[in-house]
Amino acid sequence: MKNIAVVGTGYVGLVTGAGISDFGNKVCCLDIDKAKIKLLNKGAIPIYEPGLKELVHRNVKSKRLVFSNDIEEYIRHAEVIFIAVGTPEDKTGKADISTVIKVAELIGNNLNNYKVVCTKSTVPAGTGKQIISAINKNNQNNIEFDYCSNPEFLREGNAVSDFLRPDRVVLGVSSKKAFDYMKDIYRPLYINKTLLIHTTIETAEMIKYAANAFLALKISYINEVANLCDEIGADINVVSEALGADGRISPKFLHPGPGFGGSCFPKDTKALIHVAKKYDLDMNTIDAAIKTNNYQRIRMFNKIENLLEGNLKNKKIAVLGLAFKQETDDVRESAAIDIISELMSKGAFIKAYDPVANDSMKKLIPDIEYKLNWQSAVEECDAVVIMTEWNEFRGMNLEELKKLMFTPIILDTRNILNISELKRLEFKFDNVGRK
Ligand code: UGA
Repeated sequence: MKNIAVVGTGYVGLVTGAGISDFGNKVCCLDIDKAKIKLLNKGAIPIYEPGLKELVHRNVKSKRLVFSNDIEEYIRHAEVIFIAVGTPEDKTGKADISTVIKVAELIGNNLNNYKVVCTKSTVPAGTGKQIISAINKNNQNNIEFDYCSNPEFLREGNAVSDFLRPDRVVLGVSSKKAFDYMKDIYRPLYINKTLLIHTTIETAEMIKYAANAFLALKISYINEVANLCDEIGADINVVSEALGADGRISPKFLHPGPGFGGSCFPKDTKALIHVAKKYDLDMNTIDAAIKTNNYQRIRMFNKIENLLEGNLKNKKIAVLGLAFKQETDDVRESAAIDIISELMSKGAFIKAYDPVANDSMKKLIPDIEYKLNWQSAVEECDAVVIMTEWNEFRGMNLEELKKLMFTPIILDTRNILNISELKRLEFKFDNVGRK
């Protein structure tokens, strides 16, 4: 059992802190945000993430998990410090690692005995070295420490199960001692024979970007194939199923849609291109994936415009699903933002509904109508656009939907509705690659 400090209590920090406390370690999740820590200490969870509340409460109850603003105190107390603060993209598409560096300097100031400093935040290859020098800058007494790059692969909406049952744990370390420390933290996974990759810091950093960019590439590829299916009358669902049956391809991340969003793929793809540029290298495939992703959003808008025969002025349109995907309240880089803004700019009225993301979208787009269920959102509407694949949208009663709407027009950007049912009920509809 190790004493652990997690600096940064966002999605990654909170799930990591709760997860490793569940593995039997004593963890303090730290943040400069006083309101957030107060909330957590009252038992509230600041984000929507299935299973997280139970995980946090279980470990708080067993006194393995605490929350604090006293970052320096807990850094001094810890044997391992996880850095889990944000690395947003700057104006040029580069990852802004300034907060990570600030935390590293703080760690240097408070280094009182051997510690392993471990980065969870997604940082470009080469950042590890900068973090080590930022720590050393303030390490007046030359206290021994090690560094580990331990990238996180959790998906929002699945974060808890991804953390507790990962495909692999990557440990890029500066020494064997650090590897042993980290292996100890992940002991239950190690005992369960989870693949543990022991490698260098740079390789671990590279793995994270390479994984995210590859998945983004896979999505853009299937979206392009879906668009071609649209034109030639093929069915992308069958194409995807057949592609996925090939073990070399795998069926995951072959669902076409309005393009990838969220806090990771859009930013990490750009950051990877930026890193490559530094070495005079082009990442042409990733560049193309970004372009296709941008186009995919425009294409979805064109589809709804076509369904309404080019006339959007004063049309009432229901947008179902506001976050960048289902099971999350995160609206960062959500395709819904683009489609709503574009529809509004053409004079349409928007009625919006998401099971958990209404409040977060309200902060970005306050001047549309937010509804508490899909039925009130679609009422009297001229068209409906489905943006995410929540089960409650998948299971909508299409007869009820048709009765509630003014005209039965629907764009299903996630291919979740039954086409024969839509045809039987005489909906005018479109989707992605299933003409
Ligand atoms: C992604 C990765 O999947 C995680 O492994 C990684 O840890 C994380 O980024 C991160 O770097 O922190 P996340 O952004 O939570 O996780 O969401 P995903 O489930 O990967 O979805 C990303 C976007 O791609 C969403 O907009 C989703 O709707 C879209 N998507 C995904 C598709 O359009 N089609 C698919 O087949 C899969």
